[in-house]
Amino acid sequence: MLVLAIETSCDETAVAVLRGCGELLASEIASQAAAHAAFGGVVPEVASRNHLELLPPLAAGALAKARVAPRELTAIVATGGPGLAPALLVGMAFGKALAIGLRKPFHAVNHIEGHLLSPFFGGQHIPRHLALVVSGGHTLLVSVEGYRRYRVLGRTLDDAAGEALDKTAKLLGLPYPGGPAIEQLALQGSPGRFPLPRAMRDSGDLNFSFSGLKTAARYLLEREPPAPATLPDLCADFQNAVFEALVSKTLKALGQTGHSLLAVSGGVSSNAALRERLDSACAAVGAATRYAPRDLRTDNAAMIAHAGSLAAATDLPPELDRDVISSLWRDPLWNPDPGVSGAGPLAG
Ligand code: KG4
Ligand code: ZN
Repeated sequence: MLVLAIETSCDETAVAVLRGCGELLASEIASQAAAHAAFGGVVPEVASRNHLELLPPLAAGALAKARVAPRELTAIVATGGPGLAPALLVGMAFGKALAIGLRKPFHAVNHIEGHLLSPFFGGQHIPRHLALVVSGGHTLLVSVEGYRRYRVLGRTLDDAAGEALDKTAKLLGLPYPGGPAIEQLALQGSPGRFPLPRAMRDSGDLNFSFSGLKTAARYLLEREPPAPATLPDLCADFQNAVFEALVSKTLKALGQTGHSLLAVSGGVSSNAALRERLDSACAAVGAATRYAPRDLRTDNAAMIAHAGSLAAATDLPPELDRDVISSLWRDPLWNPDPGVSGAGPLAG
């Protein structure tokens, strides 16, 4: 199995070539961060045009690095959603065109499934576990029975954890992405100075809400503009509030499901303080933890290649007629049973 994977769901153009499930021959990423910085956020049309320019040379470079000729590929896969529709369209169209030209099967990969499976990169077997996906766009707790057997237990009702970190960092005048900037400052501060709310703590379900926390930080800043001396403490308090919610709902989900393995993925899992907190909370209840490899936590095409190689190996039907699905909840992969908690019409 030799898969070429394309990822264009947001502002990163990425291509990977994977042999089997774990022999990563190339994983190229071209960040467009500079192109969007002037706008203060990702502009979908700008992302789309940049993907169009960056993708052909990036794919050619990845194949050259992997020393693989296009005709040797077994399948072409591309992220089909969720994400920015104009950005996804470029990667999907490019992947389909390659597949048609080379007469190879094409598979669309769900970006969140790519993250969710990334702690098991290199393996074909996906064990029973609880998955915590914490990215810039999504915060999900998923009970996993095996490959393609997912039940969403909880999700954010508003902002994702990474989004809350990014938006608050922006208020604080910190660079994008805000998560790493807040992590660095928090290391120099200590929590306890700034009172911040803990939303949904006693909600009785496994959902999250982070937008109230972001608003509380905004009010705090309006009353008392950030001073260099107190900024690290504010970062420590903010990060603490976000992570406390993630850890407490994760523990609750472990208790409810009886899972003894927690797998954590997505950009926010790059944060060492979060991983430490999850490690010690899980150890206290006898659960093991597993994280995506370092380079596979933020967006990349290697995780799409891994998920795609599982799809290709499972003999799922090729999907040349598949359209992009920009919202997570419109993909039947998640909660085919509408009665399951967490299924619903929320956008995202
Ligand atoms: O998974 P990802 O690359 O993109 C999405 O699919 O959304 O996640 C990006 C998110 C951003 O919100 C970024 O601030 C956050 O991951 N992030 C971090 C860290 N590194 C990236 N958050 C906290 N601490 C970090 N070290
Ligand atoms: Zn992502």
